[in-house]
Amino acid sequence: MIVSGKVEALIRGLPKAELHVHLEGTLEPELMFDLARRNHIDLPFPSIDAAREAYRFNNLQEFLDLYYQGMAVLRTEEDFFDLTYAYLKRAHDDGVRHVEMFFDPQGHTERDVSFGEVIRGITRARVTAESSLSMSTKLIMCFLRHLPESDAFATYSEAEPWLEEIVGIGLDSSELGHPPSKFARVFQLAREDGLKTVAHAGEEGPPEYVREAVEILGVDRIDHGNRALEDPDLVRRLVDDATTLTVCPLSNLRLCVVDDMRSHPIRKMLELDLKVTVNSDDPAYFGGYVNDNFMAVHDALTLTPEECMVLARNSFEGAFLDADSRAAYLDEIRRYAEQQA
Ligand code: ADE
Ligand code: ZN
Repeated sequence: MIVSGKVEALIRGLPKAELHVHLEGTLEPELMFDLARRNHIDLPFPSIDAAREAYRFNNLQEFLDLYYQGMAVLRTEEDFFDLTYAYLKRAHDDGVRHVEMFFDPQGHTERDVSFGEVIRGITRARVTAESSLSMSTKLIMCFLRHLPESDAFATYSEAEPWLEEIVGIGLDSSELGHPPSKFARVFQLAREDGLKTVAHAGEEGPPEYVREAVEILGVDRIDHGNRALEDPDLVRRLVDDATTLTVCPLSNLRLCVVDDMRSHPIRKMLELDLKVTVNSDDPAYFGGYVNDNFMAVHDALTLTPEECMVLARNSFEGAFLDADSRAAYLDEIRRYAEQQA
């Protein structure tokens, strides 16, 4: 029998990468209130507890409405530094050794916060964390899919002076009605520029959206991908291509993508040999960081120690790391596993 406390300790110490986290979704109510005060912004919540109480969602759109409202407290380079550094410290506490984090520039530039202000704050926090916490980080710029492709092109132009800091592009926001194919040309441009590409697909949207992300956008990873399981041919392709899926269990529960953690598709994904990883998505809104996500899966579906190791290995194998860094992290896992034996 596997003792749950033992698996919990194993998860806590396990070296892991987080590949699906939105920086703006790491904005804890405490920091939201601090920044609102600093920037003289009124919040629609009377207290921190009231904000947390409001985080009850029936679907993705209900969450996104609060998420865009919350990020309005982020105005200056310092705000983006504080947000990013707080998340990286928190991730470090969870044994996260490497992070690839999303940011949504359009959520800021449309409020007249400059692209430079945003990326300077994030970059300074990354540099600080890399030296003080000895973790590695990369940044992925997401386009908001509810906006037209022309807006994504305009954002891409704004990002051009900063492409050294950006490993890839992604696609997020309201999925239904906004298929990946809407962004075919801007993704092609980014690929030609040597950027990596990822897209949210199959969170609420149908398996065809996952197929479009793979076949039309040519993505290197799928964010979520839950509904791919409805299409056996698509599953075969994802397995054959070893496509990484960045799965977010607590997010799926809080956005009613699954009714119950016991019916979460991650068990099936592991059985099918899909390259699944565990991530936190928007931890400040969904009640947990990466280890909480591992534990929620374990409590509902019982992860074996070997499955925990597979999930951690998948996270480094799916990361946009150079070969030496990847090998070094995989070696850390191997040594950790040996210590556990
Ligand atoms: N933006 C932030 N979190 C998201 C999610 N879970 N799905 C789509 N867009 C998002
Ligand atoms: Zn997401």
